[in-house]
Amino acid sequence: MELVLFEKKAGVAQITINRPDKMNALNRAVLAELDRCFQQALSDPKLFGVVITGAGDRAFVAGADISEFAHYSAEEARELSTFGQGLFRRIEESPKPVVAAVHGFALGGGCELAMACHLRIATRAARFGQPEVSLGVVPGYGGTQRLVQLVGKAKALEMLCTGDPIDAGEAHRLGLANHVVEEQSELLPHAHAVLQRMFLRGGQAVAGCIELVNDFFHADRDGYAQESACFGRLFESDEFREGVGAFMEKRKPNFRQKP
Ligand code: COA
Repeated sequence: MELVLFEKKAGVAQITINRPDKMNALNRAVLAELDRCFQQALSDPKLFGVVITGAGDRAFVAGADISEFAHYSAEEARELSTFGQGLFRRIEESPKPVVAAVHGFALGGGCELAMACHLRIATRAARFGQPEVSLGVVPGYGGTQRLVQLVGKAKALEMLCTGDPIDAGEAHRLGLANHVVEEQSELLPHAHAVLQRMFLRGGQAVAGCIELVNDFFHADRDGYAQESACFGRLFESDEFREGVGAFMEKRKPNFRQKP
């Protein structure tokens, strides 16, 4: 069975973690395959966005594979964390928008993967959490950093230090989940619909927004200076000419060909 499924749907790469019998837990083989699929999505000019989801009806991803790392040395664990962080950073810094479609458990590395995506759409039955303290360890794929960014220090410390998961309603209230849908059947259509709205906008501008929002979270980057530079650069783009031209002519802009 393929560990990660890759499908193309109307210009979007749909990537599915496919270990439903193990709650889609991320072992090394899954991480490597996810990395490969993600690079494929980035390098295909016909794909403008990515949806990441989990197979089955029980979990998005229930974390890193505990049975695989149970006997790791400190050095092996550090190396695993560095690899996972690198992959999740590449997702976060993707110029193409990435949406996590979350049903069931998004725990540990699953919550971290969802947080590395630009938006999270959840079903009512979704559960988000960082239960690593129950295993006597801390999150290793950026969870301590991104959870603070998304929900604030107080709630992040509560979730991290108790290990208790939160339900979809609370995730939505906290801003961790962008939207909540009631049924799993609505999840992927909704995730794709959000991306299709982005498709109608200028692709370089969308990529610029992702990059600039990420800049905010890097102390060594001057987000305001980067914003001015990007703003100026886009004035010379065909997309800007099309967007402004369409406004003047009172028509809808047509930034790119429908795939
Ligand atoms: N790593 C490896 N295997 C995992 C896993 C993980 N993170 N999460 C679930 N699985 C496996 C279980 O071992 C089980 O395998 P088995 O049938 O071969 O025994 C299978 O997935 C089903 O899980 P199970 O625990 O039987 O289901 P449940 O409904 O009783 O509980 C969870 C679901 C998600 C609450 C529970 O599996 C769990 O707590 N998982 C670990 C979550 C975690 O700590 N993640 C952070 C890891 S750093």
